[in-house]
This record gives sequence, structure tokens and C-alpha cells, in this order.
Amino acid sequence: MPIEIIPAIIAKNFTGLKEKIKKVEPYVKWVHIDVMDGNFVPNFTWNKPEELKYYDPGVFLEAHLMIREPEKYVEDWIEAGIKRIIFHIEATSDPKRVIKICRERKVEVGVAINPVTPLNAIEDLIKTGWACPPFGKEPEGPYCPNMVLVMANTPGFGGQEFKPETLERIKTLRGLYPHLTIGVDIGMNPKTAKQAVEAGANVIVAGSYILNSDDVEQAIEELKK
Ligand code: DX5
Ligand code: ZN
Repeated sequence: MPIEIIPAIIAKNFTGLKEKIKKVEPYVKWVHIDVMDGNFVPNFTWNKPEELKYYDPGVFLEAHLMIREPEKYVEDWIEAGIKRIIFHIEATSDPKRVIKICRERKVEVGVAINPVTPLNAIEDLIKTGWACPPFGKEPEGPYCPNMVLVMANTPGFGGQEFKPETLERIKTLRGLYPHLTIGVDIGMNPKTAKQAVEAGANVIVAGSYILNSDDVEQAIEELKK
């Protein structure tokens, strides 16, 4: 499976968001925007999809919605031009609805899972698992997400450490679903990214390692290696 590196951006306002996207956009295809509501996670970020409407970056944007009841807001993000929605299994009582909305509106959808949540919480959604194709292709099952995003620590902040027990979770998922796109988010650097890929991940979401670097291009290259 091809490995993809996706820079993660935490921004307090739209100006900050645009500045950070500009830094990374020459080097990647996708950018991951972290969206926090101060409720599902104890932190706030920029959270105004309507501001994206007249903005046209040279990359595809995915929104990592760390917000409660994503089913209420997902349409606003799609309307704003987001091409992949990632929502948390812990944040909604109706994950199928979120996936259905995304599928009907022809955007990709990923389901994120926190370290404390048992993996079987998402099993129902990926039970057609082997049929889950990589990005850009239509999933076969009606509610099959395009990807699973394994959180390597409790979300809410950038710069946290990668919890090593995450590797077992990735291995388990890869064993169950050989063709599933598996992403990892939090604490990614060349060392942890290598471990995650060896365990079976094929998407690496990295925030501070890339954005805090003096040479963003070089940092992305290091991760790719
Ligand atoms: C954490 C966010 C992550 C975070 C990644 O709540 O979902 O995407 O920004 O940042 P690093 O790479 O610094 O852990
Ligand atoms: Zn994220």
C-alpha cells in the first residue's frame, strides 16, 4: 500500500490557518485541519467552515472533527469544500448517519478512535473491511468508511507523545482488514512513523514535527523515508 504523509494544522483563527497551509502546500496533496469544540476535547481551535468558501488552496483539505454530534455540522464542512471528513466514533450516537451524509455528498469519510476506546467499537462499520479500498475509490459496503484514524494519545493538543501501545492496535486492525486505509495521528516523527508503518499504518498525520521545523520540505522528506 502506498504511504501518505499528511501535515496536521491547529489554528486559532483563519489567518493562522491559511499561513500554516501555505507553508506545507507545495509538498503535499492533503492537509489535515484539526477542529476542536472545547467540549469533546478540552481545547478550542478555529471552527468556522463558512470562512473556507472563497479560499482555494492548492491541496485537498480534510477536517478532523474533534467535536460532539458531528452529524449536526458535517454538511457545513462539506459545503465549505472539505474533501474528507474525519469524525470520532466516541462523539456520536449515529456514526452511520455521518458516513451516509459524506457518501451521498461524494466526500471521503474517516472514523477516528481514541486510545481508550475498544477497537470493536468500529467493527460494525468496517465489517466489510477487506472491501474498504484506499483513498479515492468508492467503498463497497453502504456505510464503509474510507479510512480509520487511530489516535496515538488522547486528542486535544499538538506535541503530545506517541503511546507505544498504539502499535498493537494498528497491528490488530491490519490483521483484520488487509485493505483498509489506516492512519495514525499524534506524536509522529521519523522514528514513530517507521514503527507505525511497520505495524500496518499507511497514512501518517504529523503536526509539530512538520510545522515546528525550520525546513518543512526536509521534515516531510524525513518522514517519507
Ligand atoms: C491532536 C490532533 C493532532 C495533532 C497532531 O488532537 O488531532 O492532529 O495536531 O500533532 P502532533 O503531530 O504534534 O502530535
Ligand atoms: Zn488531528
